[in-house]
Amino acid sequence: MKKLVAGILSLALVAGLGVSFATAEDAAPAAGAEAEHATPHYPLRHPKEQEWSFAGPFGKYDKGQLQRGLKVYTEVCSACHSMHLVSFRTLEGLGYSEAQVKAFAANYEVQDGPNSDGEMYTRKALPSDHFPSPFPNDEAAAAANNGAAPPDMSLLAKARGITRGFPQFIFDIFTQYQEGGPDYIYSLLTGYDEEQPANIEVAEGTHYNPYFANAAALAMAKPISDDQVTYDDGSPQTVDQYAHDVAAFLMWAAEPHLEERKRTGFMVMVFLVIFTGLIYLTKKSVYANKEH
Ligand code: HEC
Repeated sequence: MKKLVAGILSLALVAGLGVSFATAEDAAPAAGAEAEHATPHYPLRHPKEQEWSFAGPFGKYDKGQLQRGLKVYTEVCSACHSMHLVSFRTLEGLGYSEAQVKAFAANYEVQDGPNSDGEMYTRKALPSDHFPSPFPNDEAAAAANNGAAPPDMSLLAKARGITRGFPQFIFDIFTQYQEGGPDYIYSLLTGYDEEQPANIEVAEGTHYNPYFANAAALAMAKPISDDQVTYDDGSPQTVDQYAHDVAAFLMWAAEPHLEERKRTGFMVMVFLVIFTGLIYLTKKSVYANKEH
């Protein structure tokens, strides 16, 4: 009993600390940047937490959203960002038929070969091909983008995790927060409009964005603006909506089997609960006639 009370008390303490930490941070989100001579901590602002259909133990992808995200990727981001681990046929997971995927792949050209003369040639992409990269190599990609190669997008949503710090990471265990990647991508895409503080200088050719993980500015200019991509399902054509959709799509690209993983995880938990009960009953019956 004493232990239980102590446990509840310490939990309450941690929760209390959490609230005070959180309010302190909200009040001064860019504290590192404001102290003129201190080395700022990047990112200057923490990613904004968004609602995602795939969050939580019963999370599921919203296929309509993924299809819109694919449209944003193909019409905008794919001009610079490759996605070389994703093959066209996996797009069936977005709700497209085999024929639709085939037609989609045929919009692309890939290099194949060598043919019987030893020459490489290009042909229309097949569902088994992967998304072709916009640049032949990283050096060419960097040369075209002010020295910074746009990172490959296959695993980007899983590769960018911003440290959440104490005590947030303790709560994250209980809330099962795993959406740091999409929150980051969303915040980055919508973070260009924030005003640049006077005491922050950015290198030439880079663009101020307080959500960028490694500096105050990055080599990518604001890639998308309102009405740039036409949606045919009536969703709003705003940067906010584009950012949500493409972030969800990139999460899917990085983890297409998320729903299966969550379903299996839940079944394992149910099994463990039942198993614990059985073990307890077994123990009781085995020791029922033993003297203590
Ligand atoms: C004109 C080329 C270009 C386009 C179009 C573009 N990007 Fe980028 N992107 C870049 C470059 C260059 C970088 C590397 C920036 C750096 O490291 O300074 C980058 C970096 C990124 C990063 C990673 C930031 C990090 O933490 O390393 C994300 C996320 C990103 N882009 C998302 C997108 C999305 C989503 C789109 C489509 C809506 C898009 N980009 C379109 C050029 C582009």
